[in-house]
Amino acid sequence: MAFQRFGWSLVLGLLITSCSSSEGESTDKPIEVSGIQLYQENCVICHGDNGNAGISGATELSKSELSEDSIKYYILQGKNGMPPFSYLFTKDKEALNDLVSQVIELRRR
Ligand code: HEC
Repeated sequence: MAFQRFGWSLVLGLLITSCSSSEGESTDKPIEVSGIQLYQENCVICHGDNGNAGISGATELSKSELSEDSIKYYILQGKNGMPPFSYLFTKDKEALNDLVSQVIELRRR
């Protein structure tokens, strides 16, 4: 019983989230999902808004000195406590570059 109710509110929650996130069509960028959005949706849970949360041993991204290529490698392959995210970029390769820029941007904060 309790699980069923939880399950339905989750489905409802997802519906609401997907509706509200499709509103932002005002940007004239050709990419479908921005790096900031990808970061918020997939990375904040471990790395935090500013890259310093360190959940489950996540490296401080603001202090990272990795090259763009190495960042890409981490994102696509994962490492130890970090899962691979290659599935996010099967359709939209540009989004990966945008996400990498977003990760590098964290160093300037
Ligand atoms: C489940 C938690 C988790 C999530 C989600 C996660 N990471 Fe990580 N991340 C880690 C951990 C743990 C490490 C350290 C891995 C190691 O070197 O052992 C790490 C390391 C990194 C590094 C290497 C930094 C350095 O200087 O060594 C980068 C870059 C990175 N993550 C980017 C991302 C991005 C971008 C996302 C979102 C697509 C993301 N991470 C999502 C846990 C996570």
